[in-house]
Amino acid sequence: MSVQIDHLLHESRRFPPSPEFAAASVATESLYEQAAEDRLGFWANQARELLHWHKPFTRTLDWTNPPFAKWFDDGELNVAYNCLDRHVLAGDGDRIALHWEGEPGDSRSISYAQLTSEVKRAANVLIGLGVQAGDRVAIYLPMIPEAVVAMLAVARIGAVHSVIFGGFSAESLRSRIDDAEAVVVITADGGYRKGRVTPLKPAVDAALASGDSSVRTVLVVERTGGDVEWNERDKWWHEELAAVSDEHEAQAFPAENPLFILYTSGTTGKPKGILHTSGGYLTQAAFTHKQVFDLKPEKDVYWCTADVGWITGHTYVVYGPLANGATQVLYEGTPDTPHPGRWWEIIEKYKVSILYTAPTAIRTFMKIGRQEPQKFDLTSLRLLGSVGEPINPEAWMWYREVIGNHVTPVVDTWWQTETGAIMVSALPGLTVVKPGAAQVAIPGISIDVLGEDGHHVGHGNGGLLVVTEPWPSMLRGIWGDPDRFIETYWEKWPDAPNGPLYFAGDGARLDREGDIWLLGRVDDVMNVSGHRLSTAEIESSLVAHPAVAEAAVVGAHDETTGQAVVAFVIIKFSQTDAVSHADISAVLRAHVTLQIGAIARPREIFIVSELPKTRSGKIMRRLLRDVAEGREIGDTTTLADTSIMQIITDGMR
Ligand code: PRX
Repeated sequence: MSVQIDHLLHESRRFPPSPEFAAASVATESLYEQAAEDRLGFWANQARELLHWHKPFTRTLDWTNPPFAKWFDDGELNVAYNCLDRHVLAGDGDRIALHWEGEPGDSRSISYAQLTSEVKRAANVLIGLGVQAGDRVAIYLPMIPEAVVAMLAVARIGAVHSVIFGGFSAESLRSRIDDAEAVVVITADGGYRKGRVTPLKPAVDAALASGDSSVRTVLVVERTGGDVEWNERDKWWHEELAAVSDEHEAQAFPAENPLFILYTSGTTGKPKGILHTSGGYLTQAAFTHKQVFDLKPEKDVYWCTADVGWITGHTYVVYGPLANGATQVLYEGTPDTPHPGRWWEIIEKYKVSILYTAPTAIRTFMKIGRQEPQKFDLTSLRLLGSVGEPINPEAWMWYREVIGNHVTPVVDTWWQTETGAIMVSALPGLTVVKPGAAQVAIPGISIDVLGEDGHHVGHGNGGLLVVTEPWPSMLRGIWGDPDRFIETYWEKWPDAPNGPLYFAGDGARLDREGDIWLLGRVDDVMNVSGHRLSTAEIESSLVAHPAVAEAAVVGAHDETTGQAVVAFVIIKFSQTDAVSHADISAVLRAHVTLQIGAIARPREIFIVSELPKTRSGKIMRRLLRDVAEGREIGDTTTLADTSIMQIITDGMR
């Protein structure tokens, strides 16, 4: 477990909502009461109230074949219609959907009517390219409005998108394209990041260069105007969109029609394609976006800083806010370009009222200092959210005081790619919030903390976080691998008396009041700046390099990014003299960047002559973590050869 929080459980600060906030709260206590009384009836009501159904459902949940759930499965809807057309039909076509801000300072404000018409055109383009319902479309774009348009156009025609974060390499892109057998890739010539153009199209070209692939067409958005190589399968996005009509009637699809695949790292080398479907996902996305963020769509300006390449960008940039008819900010670049106050400048410019970001960003701003945000008018903010990693109380307090002017509620939201939407969070108009705790399951969600033996741990104790009942936005499987889906999430306690329990992979603790505190992953998954990385995936990349004999990777504590990737490698005997340690570190860091992407690049690589293993040959990561974090080495009694730790620590000096 990565975070030691025993001392935090003595946190005694409490912040109730202000009387004004509470009086105007969207959420009411009755939500908890209704959900407790009739959980399925509660979700059925939410699905009916929040969404437009072309064909109403009569069945709420089918859980006859666990863990394969079906929600609202005899109903039909169109996800894009719910995010677009119905708002225009309701008279809100002029409302701004996206205030987009490019990193170089260009900007566009796009109304719901304009976004709808753009998505209709893009849907017609995809249909013209022969994309059919159920086909997969890969999206590899920067944070530009076309990313939102592309996702909604795919959804509109009942196809399935697989968005691949722009920071992933050509190799990662190819393996995801192959796994899902995508027929079209939507990309851009490049994007702007840290004041420079970062090319994207060359990565797509490199990904598709070798062997046959399933991709027939690459649609290219012109963002930077840089030179690109052109292949027969390539088409310019703007030319294709200009050539088709902006009339397209949304067809209804079954509630369980797949909506997207999103790859995420697990405990093995191969990323998992997490599958989400339509009706249940959109219900919980819209519900949580409305209740957790206390959304008043007619007046709020909402900004979630996540990239659409991650689940937070799917649920809280695209589907939740647009289903709710919200006005939001979309920003292309990094927080510090061209100056360290860029985010605060954007908040002032658009009068952002709700901000949703990750603890890593907050800790980075803390380091820069309060003088930057204080140069800007942040008084429009009325609610702050945090996601992706545990937020330490110090960062939570700084967020509330410096960004939130001492009064703005902060909600810490726990969830995962697999859960699809928020599962644990305060509701800001109701809950008395505590710095550092994610606190309570949202209405309609059943969470518990269990010991290894499968029993509830009770207040004041730590254990493993589980979801005890199926939920609407739950993953429906791992693309193409039902066995892995069952083994990964549902088999920790196979004999649980009330049916299968979903094990989230996180450690958690209940405080004396029964509130939930997240403790970090308990498996070999790291969390770097709120991004999930697999130790096994980086290890297999390292050992694929000809100089490496063995590798072990751990997530070591990092003050800013939560965890950082630290690798221990054994160099092949034949290579030890060929290059210096410094060179080999640089070579291996570049190698991982090329194979997986810059986000997986190790912060440090230690060249060692042995790795600590148990007598059964398992690498003792706990000891390596001790070394990486500069601690005294812990218990080594199960180590096959205790002299190894000496060799490692000596080797590092
Ligand atoms: O370890 C938990 C951590 O992020 C993991 C999920 O990562 P991912 O699927 O990439 O989704 C991130 C955004 C939802 C979880 O298993 N995590 C997420 N939110 C929190 C968190 N840890 C502590 N507190 C949170 N609020």
